[in-house]
Amino acid sequence: MTNISAAITAVGGYVPDYILTNQILETMVDTNDDWITSRTGIKERRILKGVNKGTSFMAIQAAKRLIKKNNIDPKTIDLVVVATATPDMKAASTSAYTASEIGAINAFAFDIDAACSSFLFGMSIAARYIESRIYKKVLLIGADKNSSMINYDDRATCIIFGDGAGAVLFEANKEGLGIQDEYLRSDGTGREFLRGTHGGSSNPITIESLNEKTHFIYQDGKTVFKNAVFNMANATEKILDRNNLDNDKVDWLVAHQANKRIVDATANRINLDHKKVLMNIEKYGNTTSGTLPLLLSDYESKFKKGDNLIFAAFGGGFNWGSVYLKWAYNS
Ligand code: UT7
Repeated sequence: MTNISAAITAVGGYVPDYILTNQILETMVDTNDDWITSRTGIKERRILKGVNKGTSFMAIQAAKRLIKKNNIDPKTIDLVVVATATPDMKAASTSAYTASEIGAINAFAFDIDAACSSFLFGMSIAARYIESRIYKKVLLIGADKNSSMINYDDRATCIIFGDGAGAVLFEANKEGLGIQDEYLRSDGTGREFLRGTHGGSSNPITIESLNEKTHFIYQDGKTVFKNAVFNMANATEKILDRNNLDNDKVDWLVAHQANKRIVDATANRINLDHKKVLMNIEKYGNTTSGTLPLLLSDYESKFKKGDNLIFAAFGGGFNWGSVYLKWAYNS
């Protein structure tokens, strides 16, 4: 039997229209454009407005763009995975609704949550389903409405997060392109440093928790930052080492957009030319599961068949890792 690998064959992205700039944030909390730009690289982020609009709204838009642009019949999609830390609601999966709304009526669907590493871990799931030969088309969507869990009085979090979504299609490749290797890790001792304490099963929302705003996200930024720099760089270095890759062989670093300084530190650790480092944090901030597919969507036209892409992410949990993928098409 011919060897197959799981390749990305189409991408699509969506961000909401409303732009929350650093200047607007200056009027909301004690912060300023200079600080945010120099400490994070972020200039603005998108916020999803509108009654009853949740993560699925953006996931559906991103998927519909992918489908339209690539002329794909949604009835041929076998599986829809929505990677998200902000599902529409409890119990009813965001992915099932998304799949129905895009016309993927022959697909099964499920959500996965590994915080900011959700999309990266979802790539591993998509690859295994394709490599098993059981399914031919797997649609992986990374989408988050972070504004739904942000306290806009808390300058430690509100300056960083934004809303957005990206979708990618995985299909089998017989030329050796697609996913080559992965290094994924988790460490649950990190969960106290980045979490929404109330609103889950351990601590349901109470009147007191609403007053104390502990259903919003809390972050110990410094600790998360240190762990992110160490682990993201470490994972990326491991992937490069065991695949004999170096600056000459890597074409693009596709790294989670949490803080420009974290991405720069990762690129420095692997001695990567900064022209190869994809960035869009200045426009969108940290969209959690949306960052990696939004980078693919924004930079798709630059990728060439056979390019070596190194993905990297770190997030709450803690969860982190790196994936090596060979790009499978010219745009
Ligand atoms: O995607 C999931 C994972 N999340 C991340 O990877 C985020 C990781 N953490 C970070 O990106 C950074 O820690 C932050 C951007 C959140 C904060 O940057 P920092 O360089 O770690 O700042 P800090 O918390 O150490 O604060 C430095 C100074 C403090 O002032 P003093 O004590 O030095 O006078 C803060 O009070 O900056 C002050 N500060 C601010 N000033 C203006 C903290 N936040 C702000 C702010 N605006 N928003």
